[in-house]
Amino acid sequence: MSIRGRLPLTLAFSCIPLAAQTLTFSKHIAPLILSHCAACHRPGEAAPFSLLTYSDVRKHGTQIVQVTGQRYMPPWMPEPGHGDFAGSLRLSDQQIGILANWVRQGMPEGDPADLPPAPRFTEGWQLGTPDLIVHMSQVYHLTAIPRDVFRNFVMPVNLKETKYVRAFELRPGNKKVVHHANVIIDRSRLLRRHDGEDGQPGFSGMDVITEVTGEFDPDSHFLFWKPGSPAQQEPGGHALEARSRFGPDRKSASSALGQA
Ligand code: HEC
Repeated sequence: MSIRGRLPLTLAFSCIPLAAQTLTFSKHIAPLILSHCAACHRPGEAAPFSLLTYSDVRKHGTQIVQVTGQRYMPPWMPEPGHGDFAGSLRLSDQQIGILANWVRQGMPEGDPADLPPAPRFTEGWQLGTPDLIVHMSQVYHLTAIPRDVFRNFVMPVNLKETKYVRAFELRPGNKKVVHHANVIIDRSRLLRRHDGEDGQPGFSGMDVITEVTGEFDPDSHFLFWKPGSPAQQEPGGHALEARSRFGPDRKSASSALGQA
């Protein structure tokens, strides 16, 4: 066959959309799941089950098609088309189609030799041991109630001189119950007065007043944390308060936050 004769055939083959090919876990699904899901779906993290191996993913196949199709997972709120964000977890329509087609094709495993390298997760502090670790002074015990709890914890920093914060990481003692946390600076010293006022560590409420004028000063907003947030390098300031929301939980739980 002449070269001219072969060329159209080759082109036709390479144009078969990925979703219509036989998809395998090892080659097509594992890279997708490891990059978009495994940070939370692994032991010790916020998600309720692991998605690290073929059998993990196979067990949840139908559910994965549902939650990715609805864009409920991975959690990523920004609407597309309004700027690109670093660290985006959003799956493309094509990636969602690949997951759905693989499940429709009966979830073949494929050749384990095609698997991407096993992901390496840093345990403990993500950026190495911090220069300063600030702890909650007491563990907060969350009682079993069927609604979210918004609780503010005061964490004195006790620095004698100005320090510039380059990086910050927040570590919940119990990742299963901490839904998110805002860290703000108590510049006006209004917040720390409420600490322990109901006999429990911290004080309750979602809207806190940080200024003598009775307003929330956006400048006091320091950092925001939620499950899966990477440790970031940020500029920063000086006295912290962690405002936490705990998801509803049927069991009692306790949590301590550590941050640096
Ligand atoms: C930022 C952390 C995070 C990432 C990333 C993430 N998940 Fe989840 N996932 C969770 C948490 C937390 C839950 C449990 C709470 C819930 O269901 O909302 C959950 C629940 C689920 C559930 C169960 C939903 C239900 O209705 O019970 C499925 C299925 C799931 N995730 C699949 C995925 C898949 C597939 C990906 C990647 C494409 C992914 N998740 C990425 C945190 C994450």
